Amino acid sequence: MSLQSRKIALVGGGQIGIALALMITQKDHAEVVIVDLPGMVDPIKGKALDIMALRPHAGVDVEITATSDYAEIADAEVVIITAGIPRKAGMSRNDLLEINKGVIESVAKQVAEHAPNAFVVLSTNPVDTMCQIFHKTSGFPKERVIGLSGALDSGRFRLFIAMETRFSAKDVSCMVMGGHGPAMIPLTRTATVGGIPIQTLLSEEKIEEIVDRTRHAGTEIVQLLGHGSAYISPASAIMEMVEAYLYDKKRLISSSVLCEGEYGIDDCFIGVPCVIGSGGMERIVEMELTEGEQTQLQHNYEILQENLEKLE
Ligand code: LAC
Repeated sequence: MSLQSRKIALVGGGQIGIALALMITQKDHAEVVIVDLPGMVDPIKGKALDIMALRPHAGVDVEITATSDYAEIADAEVVIITAGIPRKAGMSRNDLLEINKGVIESVAKQVAEHAPNAFVVLSTNPVDTMCQIFHKTSGFPKERVIGLSGALDSGRFRLFIAMETRFSAKDVSCMVMGGHGPAMIPLTRTATVGGIPIQTLLSEEKIEEIVDRTRHAGTEIVQLLGHGSAYISPASAIMEMVEAYLYDKKRLISSSVLCEGEYGIDDCFIGVPCVIGSGGMERIVEMELTEGEQTQLQHNYEILQENLEKLE
């Protein structure tokens, strides 16, 4: 019997999944069910028990279970999908296309059967295309399928601006649009520290360096780790999106969502600013882009269309 009335299902008990279980526990948000392949369940049970042992120290009551039976995700309000293979050093996210497609198709069928009303957040790469596959296979409405992109990429953009300017990252505001790949678009034009445009705080060269580092931050971490990819920052970025949904925060977070005409993009998941609240992805916010930004967005759209063509 769970101590919590709310349930969050994690599909995938790898590094991001376990980091999420820890973060959900620390905030006492919900009961957690982690689903993975049968051979993975015991080690995940061990990690779950390790996290649950925080209860006396942190004063939280979260229950975490690990299973290979999707029936246990029934009634989950939120399903977070991190399952699939992470990239290794030297690989691009798109190199995972074929292998993770099969994973997401099979997960989508199970989620549609057992948690048909859940809000679904994906981080499996290449995330924009995986969202498209999940959306198509599950038949879920677009409001309930969203991919991790801008929350993570703008978080990194904010970090690098904070590191260079030596101001608190909390005061840095900026946005990254486009696909979650090296062609992503950190919008320098809109970046500020406490409302002050970064152009008045940093040189043009420094800003270019930050843009480049943001675009390749995931790769920088993959290379340094030597094994696996980033997991703490993806998990905390996912938590922001999930909290926006659970507590109806109406957060404006650029995320991978289905565009149907917005920004000139049709029938494609791509990172654009959107509002997340209790209605899920409630609406896409369309702002005017410069010609250069629109060209870059079009380039991202073409890359994602090529991905989709490869899978047909
Ligand atoms: C990254 C992975 C989650 O950017 O794509 O670290």
